[in-house]
Amino acid sequence: MKAGRHNNRTYPTAGTENVEGKNTVLLRYIRDKVNQLLQIMGTKPLREEELNDESLIAIDPIGIIAESFEQVLEHLKESNRQLQLARDYLQAVFDTAGVGISIIDRDMRIIKCNEKQKELLANGIALIEGKHCYEVYCGMDSPSLMCPAIETLETGRAVMLKEVTKKGRVFQIATSPLKDKSGDIIGVVEVNMDITEKKRAEDAMCQSEKLAAVGQLAAGIAHELNNPLGNILGYAKLLLMDENPSEPQRERVKVIVEQAKKGSGIIKSLLEFSHQKMPVFEKISINTCIEQALQSLHGETEGINIEISTRLGDVPHIMADPKQMEQVVYNILLNAVQSMEGRGGTVEVSSESANGSVEVTIKDDGPGIHREHLCRIFEPFFTTKPVGKGTGLGLSICSEILKKHGSNIRVESEKGKGAKFYFRLKDGIPDV
Ligand SMILES: Nc1ncnc2c1ncn2[C@@H]1O[C@H](COP(=O)(O)OP(=O)(O)O)[C@@H](O)[C@H]1O
Ligand SMILES: [Mg+2]
Repeated sequence: MKAGRHNNRTYPTAGTENVEGKNTVLLRYIRDKVNQLLQIMGTKPLREEELNDESLIAIDPIGIIAESFEQVLEHLKESNRQLQLARDYLQAVFDTAGVGISIIDRDMRIIKCNEKQKELLANGIALIEGKHCYEVYCGMDSPSLMCPAIETLETGRAVMLKEVTKKGRVFQIATSPLKDKSGDIIGVVEVNMDITEKKRAEDAMCQSEKLAAVGQLAAGIAHELNNPLGNILGYAKLLLMDENPSEPQRERVKVIVEQAKKGSGIIKSLLEFSHQKMPVFEKISINTCIEQALQSLHGETEGINIEISTRLGDVPHIMADPKQMEQVVYNILLNAVQSMEGRGGTVEVSSESANGSVEVTIKDDGPGIHREHLCRIFEPFFTTKPVGKGTGLGLSICSEILKKHGSNIRVESEKGKGAKFYFRLKDGIPDV
């Protein structure tokens, strides 16, 4: 075959050989182009037998290109299907994860979040994508200083398992930077785990361990002090029976008796606290316990401008220890009365049926409880009262008694807006 050479390519010259040569070049050209196209599309090059010179002459080259396009199209469809499958798979993992996942941009706007995240922190908020995360997740106008997402955006480092309270629940949060191809931070991936229940269980465990330790200590001290105090009281009373002492001496002895009685009172509550007796369950009327507690309170309200009202409902009798119930109501009432010393106010005690249980509420319009104190008032020995006025044991005794009755004491209060203590008792002996 005669052929001229130009640019390493072979071109036909003349005659039949020329025609043959032209065909060869054309076929090679078509094969090259088809293979080039297939390569671009990621398809394997055609094998010789699929596109050899003979078959190319025999068949229509345009048809072969069309077929190749079809093959490429098939390939593209398959790639798309695989891509969609991978996307669906990732979305399913994203949505079924047991933790809340959120992707946030540099302006703290939510780009995407999974179902768990919506359930945990965005329930009821429509169309959260595009909104600021601190508005949707924290209910705030600006990001908190403690926000781990901000820390990650500023430092470019991941923050591992930081404990944060959002909307009244405790979360463990991990954040990591989201980077683009060039390594620039374009946002944050935030993972939220709700650990409220775990935290509560841990706190309860810690509280009961603390109670047990404090109880032992208190019992030891109370026993040691009980005898000497009993002796002081006894001898002081003997002195009072003596007819000889002068009036000023008699007054001084009276002070000794009074102070020793006060000391005995504190020791009594220490012993009550440390030797928490198991309740003796019997069918009782909670209204009777409330009335008894109110009677015992009479001496404490003297000189205080206080109005105590009752609203006792027609509630069913329940299984409980009457003495212990009386003590719970008394302790709560006493706090309400003491909080109003010097200023006066009103207290309302009520009982009502609630789904087969009995709910007792003691509400006052006194000074209320500071937010920082609210979580501490049930701790043994926590008191805001001056020395000699409070032992800090009243509410922890209430809390222990109610626990043994399968119940909990609850409080709602704000500084300056009074306080409301309430608890519910079910009928029957609880399994505690
Ligand atoms: N009704 C109330 N109003 C305001 N503060 C209260 C009330 N009840 C309880 N508190 C707060 O709770 C604290 C703990 O109460 P408690 O355990 O009975 O101990 P104590 O009465 O000896 O201080 C009180 O010192 C007080 O700060
Ligand atoms: Mg008290």
